[in-house]
Amino acid sequence: MAIEKTLSIIKPNAVKQKHVGEIISMLEQNNLRISQMRMLQLDNVQAKMFYQEHIGKSFFDELLNFMLSGEIVVLKLEGENAIARYRELMGATNPCDAKEGSIREKFGDKTDLTQNAVHGSDSKESAKRELALFFK
Ligand code: PPS
Repeated sequence: MAIEKTLSIIKPNAVKQKHVGEIISMLEQNNLRISQMRMLQLDNVQAKMFYQEHIGKSFFDELLNFMLSGEIVVLKLEGENAIARYRELMGATNPCDAKEGSIREKFGDKTDLTQNAVHGSDSKESAKRELALFFK
């Protein structure tokens, strides 16, 4: 199976609630190798570039404000079938629908979909574009 690279973001709610260590541990336990990692605060331009495909959607402003509300951790993950395996580990977008034991079920806010703890690239093309925004 092909070795893939994907982008993970630990979102502001999970950073503020001190879940970074537990999330990193879940990545490692699932053989998603961390090859690069940074903590940073997004600015408006970066956030709009990152979420460009969602501009104009009803949730866009809320998502943008949330992602600008605190520090995030961005990680480059590598492994066999890493894109799909990490999406599976994240769980469904809405923490209420995320399967038991997934990152979003454990650390997402079940009263606020926006605060769903993590992001993961959804395809090889997205992974390439998103990784290039954070890692040279
Ligand atoms: S996902 O996780 O990419 O499969 O989900 P998707 O449905 O494609 O959503 C894309 C991103 O938009 C966020 N989102 C929302 N935020 C706030 N309110 C609502 N209703 C909403 N719907 C979707 C979702 O968390 C995704 O953010 P990222 O950072 O890509 O995970």
